[in-house]
Amino acid sequence: MSAAPLRIGLAGLGTVGIGVVKIVQDHADLIARRTGRSVVITAVSARDRAKNRDADLSAYAWESDPIALARRDDVDVFIEVMGGHDGPAKRATETAIAAGKDVVSANKALLAHHGQALALAAESAGRVIRFEAAVAGGIPVIKALTEGLAGNQIKRVMGVMNGSCNYILTRMQNEGLTYAEVFDAAQQLGYLEADPNLDVGGIDAGHKLALLASIAFGTKVSFDAVELEGIGKVSIDDIRLAADMGYRIKLLGVAQMTGRGLEQRMTPCLVPADSPLGQLQGGTNMVVLEGDSVGQIVLRGPGAGTGPTASAVMADVLDIARGTRLSTFGQPASTLADPVAAISTTPASYYMRMTLLDKPGALAKIATCLGEAGVSIDQMRQYGHEGTLAPVLIVTHKATRADIDHAMGRFDATGVMAEAPVAIRIEEV
Ligand code: NAP
Ligand code: HSE
Repeated sequence: MSAAPLRIGLAGLGTVGIGVVKIVQDHADLIARRTGRSVVITAVSARDRAKNRDADLSAYAWESDPIALARRDDVDVFIEVMGGHDGPAKRATETAIAAGKDVVSANKALLAHHGQALALAAESAGRVIRFEAAVAGGIPVIKALTEGLAGNQIKRVMGVMNGSCNYILTRMQNEGLTYAEVFDAAQQLGYLEADPNLDVGGIDAGHKLALLASIAFGTKVSFDAVELEGIGKVSIDDIRLAADMGYRIKLLGVAQMTGRGLEQRMTPCLVPADSPLGQLQGGTNMVVLEGDSVGQIVLRGPGAGTGPTASAVMADVLDIARGTRLSTFGQPASTLADPVAAISTTPASYYMRMTLLDKPGALAKIATCLGEAGVSIDQMRQYGHEGTLAPVLIVTHKATRADIDHAMGRFDATGVMAEAPVAIRIEEV
């Protein structure tokens, strides 16, 4: 083999980092055959050198400071798998680019917040930043968008991209447990991030959606424009009633370019129970890509974990070893447009659950609020009267979220609403 080895500096030796070490060690021959050169780790960094990491790191130089690692002369590719959207991860990535290294990252938070600036810096230094592992773990969705579907106008990107949320929602569905019960179990099993709100608040999945939207629509990453709603308010009642109507509730990300601008939402939605998204169980991820020529593509697979995430990191490393040099977001960062944010402009049917006081005219008052807001009722059901309370379920014809909110804003003044109403979008998938 004549080509010089590709030398990796690995910052982070946790779940993902150790997975990378294992692939580099276990598949050295396979990688060399596929790329025509060997890929070696020269130096690593983590916080605690004494920690037992279940891997042989003795051949690698140790740096306690990832920024020093990023500057090393014997590093060609800096792999950042530490995490955090500011602090050492950001400074080390900037340092690596300035020192002439290519960068591979699994850090969706960093890229969602600073992707444009980092991509510009990398391009002006003639370096690449790749981040397959940052979105949907082991699913090669960045490659699908930037390469496989590069000849398509992308119409819509959708997906379940947070395994922890899907785990919680499917256990609620399958076992009839409350959100609080499954949340506690997920936390005890270590399925949630140290700050669980990153998962259940939809933030982690929102980061991923913003990255996909940038590639799909040629726009600068705009995480701040993602409409975010977590799963904390999804009740077991909603899960049961949705199931009775043939739906499942998912934390669904949708990005699409509309006549009014780029719509990006990461919110609980109803999807048909028999659709691929409706059938998705546990911690698995699914991304649905729609292109004008290809139609719809469904990608399904593990969205987290040491093997799947390291698999995606190594796909980027192998590309660099082969000499494949793609722009961070599929086109030069300087050509990405400033997106105009369109908040939920695409109309949809809505599932609405409310508990009314069981007295004459109550339903008529609610129907009037909906009608006056321009929201038309498609289906309606009253179920399981409890004393003086009348639970009511309404499915609307297509309406905008603004119209639904407008109607709900008037419910209080009717004096017949016993509890805060719930409205969940029904997504056509
Ligand atoms: P992790 O298990 O918590 O590991 C983080 C590693 O980074 C640890 O080895 C830690 O050192 C090291 N580290 C943290 N701060 C450091 C600092 N200031 N200086 C040097 N080293 C530092 O995290 P992870 O799950 O592997 O995730 C890493 C990244 O991949 C994150 O951006 C995450 O969002 C992303 N990601 C993870 C998954 C997944 O399944 N876990 C999936 C997709 C993407 P010590 O070990 O000494 O504490
Ligand atoms: N917390 C994330 C999830 C990890 O549950 O999907 C992978 O990004």
